[in-house]
Amino acid sequence: MFIRRCYLRLSIALFALATIAGPARADDPFLVKPYVQIGEKPTSSQMQVLWHAADADEDWQLERQAKDGSWKREAAPTMRRVAVSGIAPHRVYQATLTDLTAGEKVAYRVLAAGKPLFSGETQGLKTANQSSRYVIMGDCGAGSNEQKPIARRIFESKPDMVVITGDIVYSSGRISEYRDRFWPIYNADTPSDRGAPLIRSIPFVGAPGNHDTESRDLDRFPDALAYFLYWNQPRNGPAGRVGGPFFPTLKGSETNQKAFLSAAGSAFPNMANFSFDVANVHWTILDSNSYTDWTSDELKNWVAADLAAAKSADWRFVAFHHPGFNSSKAHFEQQHMRLLAPIFEAGKVDVVYAGHVHNYQRSFPLTFVPDAQGKVAPRGRLVAGKWNLDKTFDGKSDTTPNGVIYLVTGAGGQKLYNPEQQDDRPSWQEFTTKFISKVHSFTLTDIDAKTATIRQLTADGTELDRIVITK
Ligand SMILES: [Fe+2]
Repeated sequence: MFIRRCYLRLSIALFALATIAGPARADDPFLVKPYVQIGEKPTSSQMQVLWHAADADEDWQLERQAKDGSWKREAAPTMRRVAVSGIAPHRVYQATLTDLTAGEKVAYRVLAAGKPLFSGETQGLKTANQSSRYVIMGDCGAGSNEQKPIARRIFESKPDMVVITGDIVYSSGRISEYRDRFWPIYNADTPSDRGAPLIRSIPFVGAPGNHDTESRDLDRFPDALAYFLYWNQPRNGPAGRVGGPFFPTLKGSETNQKAFLSAAGSAFPNMANFSFDVANVHWTILDSNSYTDWTSDELKNWVAADLAAAKSADWRFVAFHHPGFNSSKAHFEQQHMRLLAPIFEAGKVDVVYAGHVHNYQRSFPLTFVPDAQGKVAPRGRLVAGKWNLDKTFDGKSDTTPNGVIYLVTGAGGQKLYNPEQQDDRPSWQEFTTKFISKVHSFTLTDIDAKTATIRQLTADGTELDRIVITK
């Protein structure tokens, strides 16, 4: 009994020490090594570099290598302090790489007190006349044995961007979970079956999933909502107000709420819905979580206006978490994003990528008219309506879809849903033409002018599905 009590006290003391002191060491001052983000106003000539370090003053600098090999110092980094309960206070630094050329590689390094501590390489976002490659996947940050080899395969496929359709980390979107299940896997030093050096070179864009932003009780999880602390993405969505249709009231003590708000800065709550252009693609990222009221005209009008304004893009892709068109028994009733189908059709969206359901599904190109548009509660409700399916499109001999193609690509790492349905076609909804639920996978989308090639790949590179779309 005495020994057990001593052991317990020692464990508590060690835990407290680790929590207060943090893991920073003089020879490795990074809590999270540098990673790239598209930032609030993405352009081809700039890329944001972020890194996390201990809560101590340090003379950080970012440098970019010019074409003549010399190192050019960028403007001094800005810093946000993250001081939430249960996690050692730390700092999120951000500096901007400038003078980049679209699609051209550039070396960068991060220095402290004049000493280079990290070297990386990224590239300027591509412009409209360049081909581009995207990886899209969701439900990935589980820390599972399936997540890690997929990271390696993504690295080997050399995308220009990775888009995560939500559930970035499990189970509650916490800082501690990012440290276990995200950074070591997507920002590893070397490629292996444990992860890959992806996000230090390739910008990730994230849509919020339920596991990222639904844990809002900051008394239970003071380090939750890390999505708003660590991602730097556009803020051009509808101006949200806490408690309005775009984001709910935070829960928890005033102290914990203040700590979160101070750390999040302008990212909260406006970062959840946004759009940007890269190459000849317009991407619209939406928040499909239960607190978001997709019957709100304000929200729907923003999506319609956003798509209408994207006239110069050849392609329009939308990404969010909860799929409107899903044949899995899992989450079948969460159909609320079907309400946006008429807006996607009017806005000439080509493909909608979702996650939440842990498998892969592709719909026929379809149009949909909801029966009760505007009267459906946002979550947990069936959205009845009429769909029109283009069954002549096969992505091979007929490559011109009549309607929007809806993909579920939620097989990025978390335990798969409904493997038994893969071979049970009668269990699929009429709108589903491909359903793969026995293996983890990710989507690779190549855009070459007016041709899109969309493939679904496993960690060993097996091609599960392939379609070509032309314009
Ligand atoms: Fe989910």
